[in-house]
Amino acid sequence: MTASDAGPQPSPEEAAALADLAECAARAAGALVREGRAERGGVTATKSSRSDVVTAMDTASEQLIRRVLRAERPQDAVLGEEGGTTGGTSGLTWVVDPIDGTVNYVYGIPAYAVSVAVVAGEPAPPHWRPVAGCVHNPETGETWTASLGGGARLDGEPVHAAAGPPLAEALVGTGFGYTASRRAEQADVVARLLPRVRDVRRIGSAALDLCYVASGRLDAFYERGLNPWDAAAGWLVAAEAGVSLVGLDGAGASQDMLVAAPPALALELAAELSRAGALPSA
Ligand code: IPD
Ligand code: CA
Repeated sequence: MTASDAGPQPSPEEAAALADLAECAARAAGALVREGRAERGGVTATKSSRSDVVTAMDTASEQLIRRVLRAERPQDAVLGEEGGTTGGTSGLTWVVDPIDGTVNYVYGIPAYAVSVAVVAGEPAPPHWRPVAGCVHNPETGETWTASLGGGARLDGEPVHAAAGPPLAEALVGTGFGYTASRRAEQADVVARLLPRVRDVRRIGSAALDLCYVASGRLDAFYERGLNPWDAAAGWLVAAEAGVSLVGLDGAGASQDMLVAAPPALALELAAELSRAGALPSA
């Protein structure tokens, strides 16, 4: 990757201002989706499978976030889960998940989040450089923010990841894709992992999973096949809290596989996932 591919390098002050804007957009969208939740969530469509639902509020939330961002940063691109890509000229891209954890939202489980991040360069891992982000849970009010070089915060208080236990004592979060074939592979892997860890959690929002690792509520998290919008803001929160984000077999974290944990545990979990066949060759 050349320096220009890596996009602009905002100063810490600029990154902090971008985090404020991410928080402002995420909080406004969070209020909208919480107040607008219909009985049974208001599912309007399905995407990759019958499990992959979209609600009217996913669409409305993304539209609101796009309006807020366009008003302040018309020069930036936007990549949103529901609306796709809108081009920009600055080299920065806002990566938006209007409701991460949509199935929880539909069922009234208070574990969903609005995730708003801005990245430099290509808006996908491993090439992106997340610059600022916010993960906001509208039900609990909990709000994680981070800016590149500026640290991570939960409700304004600095967040630092703990050292992390050995894998055998680790509480490990994971998630599953929406297609039956991907889920069958993921079920095989989790069946091999479960006897080797303290326990496994499937919370249902990758953005919250990553913030939970940052805050020590999970020791580790891994998932295969995350989209950029699931991961962008939580990635920066975790990284700024001192969490390692890696792939398998020495690769960087990517859409193929993301493992997030304190450094020694991340390596131990990545090795175990590799042995469990978590990344079958295509
Ligand atoms: C999903 C959640 C889930 C993860 C899936 C994602 P969505 O996002 O983050 O925890 O396991 O891979 O697609 O569909 O609720 O925005
Ligand atoms: Ca998502």
